[in-house]
Amino acid sequence: MCGIVGYIGKRPATDILLDGLRRLEYRGYDSAGMAVVHDGDIRTAKSVGRVANLAQAVGQSRPSGTVGIAHTRWATHGVPSDENAHPHVDCQGGIAVVHNGIIENWETLRRGLESRGHVFRSQTDTEVLAHLIEEYASRLTLKDALAAALKDVIGTFGLALVSAAEPRRIYVARRGSPIVLGLGPKGDEFYVASDPSALVAYTRDVVYLDDDELAVLSDVGVETTTLDLVHREKPITKIDWTMEEIERGRFPHFMAKEIFEQPAVAANVVRGRLDAAGGRAVLGGLASVDERLRKIERITIIGCGSAAHAGLVGEYMIEEYAEVPVEVQLASEYRYRRTVLDPEKEAVVAVSQSGETADTLGALREAKARGALTLGIVNAVGSTVARETDAGVFIHAGPEIAVASTKAFLGQVIAFSLLSLHLGRQRRMSAQVGERLVAELHALPQKIEKILQQDAKIRALARKYSGYGGMLYLGRRYNAPVAAEGALKLKEIAYVHAEGYAAGEMKHGPIALLDRSFPVVALATKDGVYAKMRSNLEEVRARQAPILAVVSEGDEEVLRLADDVIAVPRTIEMLSPILNVIPLQLFAYHMAVARGLDPDKPRNLAKSVTVE
Ligand code: F6R
Repeated sequence: MCGIVGYIGKRPATDILLDGLRRLEYRGYDSAGMAVVHDGDIRTAKSVGRVANLAQAVGQSRPSGTVGIAHTRWATHGVPSDENAHPHVDCQGGIAVVHNGIIENWETLRRGLESRGHVFRSQTDTEVLAHLIEEYASRLTLKDALAAALKDVIGTFGLALVSAAEPRRIYVARRGSPIVLGLGPKGDEFYVASDPSALVAYTRDVVYLDDDELAVLSDVGVETTTLDLVHREKPITKIDWTMEEIERGRFPHFMAKEIFEQPAVAANVVRGRLDAAGGRAVLGGLASVDERLRKIERITIIGCGSAAHAGLVGEYMIEEYAEVPVEVQLASEYRYRRTVLDPEKEAVVAVSQSGETADTLGALREAKARGALTLGIVNAVGSTVARETDAGVFIHAGPEIAVASTKAFLGQVIAFSLLSLHLGRQRRMSAQVGERLVAELHALPQKIEKILQQDAKIRALARKYSGYGGMLYLGRRYNAPVAAEGALKLKEIAYVHAEGYAAGEMKHGPIALLDRSFPVVALATKDGVYAKMRSNLEEVRARQAPILAVVSEGDEEVLRLADDVIAVPRTIEMLSPILNVIPLQLFAYHMAVARGLDPDKPRNLAKSVTVE
């Protein structure tokens, strides 16, 4: 969840490192730091707060060295402070390390190192790495020392290291936390990052390290090995992101940009994947497992946060259209339950924007170890989930930079509709039903545009509701998970406590919260549970709670019950979450702005949760 960037080449490293950190700031933003090798010395600079503070701290006196590493932090061990910011150095200040992940046995290691005279300066788990490597380096080469130190470590790491003793090298290693290497176009510059978005401005050619691999970057190239130092040949992958995709452009925040990109995302997910005449989905990423998929009798969907909500929508879709029983499990719980799994008959679908979420990966590996067919619904193409699943569907949403997921959620839900269509047509779904679904999927981008045109109205509504301290979000069936997703968006970026509930559950508890000071946001579009939803709104009305409802265009009945409405175009019920979530995303976004908050960088959060 923190960001790493490193550079070795001919240009001064500082500006490249600061630029990379700015692009990675969405990964963690409580402190930042860098180490540049300058005249055989390691020069470090650190600053609590945003990367802008670090840039200021580096100021005019920036070292001109052409090798360096840098880090933007999301605190796990030790409060955000200058001392706890990375890089961490050994006793002599000759080795500097930046690290993502968690060293679980850090206390034991630290006690041992301290008893042998090492002096620590921070409360972090990372600092033990610098001292441990220092200790081994007194009798081994740096590379051997790094490999030996990592053998002592329990936990996860994506790390980069520079040393005064080997001033023209960067060492990197990975277990559990992503590391990508960038190859400069002329073969004389090399980069390391925790995320390709830091590299796009410099190169498109990257090498993804796998777990338990180590790499050495020098002026002449990149050498990759296992952690046991056995040579590994690695493929070069091309990143296809454009600079526009990773820049904010005319939008005040990435979140706004990403919400407004959703018509394009809805078109991209289905591009080349819909056979209108046959009423089928053509999913090349599943071709290799198609025969196995035919025999699947049960599906488990795993994911976290918004990805889990997308999975819950997928559950309704697959059960209705493909008649395969589905269960959604939070990835963080999956591993710790005694799940019953029949590898012959079960597929496990991992849903993840980043493809690097530690809990999702852990659950995926558990399912794989037990022999299940594993599928991924993933955005980041080179990510670990994408590489470790047997097959899958990419959502092609482009880089998602804002911490709160919007376009990826939309892409995931659409991917589930494609999966449902595919599984359904493999089973009993008629061509006619398939054709209808294909037509509705094609119509989505235009309908999404229509909702986005109501941005100014939703901003005004957000201002009106911005003073409330809590809200209840209600939806039924396909839209119950959308209520949960809307509430999650509101709490994570506007810091307003919100609960997402299946509306039928309201009377079993949450109704006690309702009065004039506790608004309800209701998903009340015309669908199979519309009448039930209306009855729930009558119950809310009777408690005098303000109601903001998402309704179908032309619906007059909910108008009578609600204080405010946002109308969305009609679609089939199965696809209604895709349209209904958009007003909720805009509402949360404008609520955050109205409350004076930065929606892109909510407190305590970071994009891509690579710790458990
Ligand atoms: C919420 C949000 C998170 C992520 C969750 C999973 O807006 O962004 O809840 O959805 O951390 O992340 P991925 O999809 O990268 O596995």
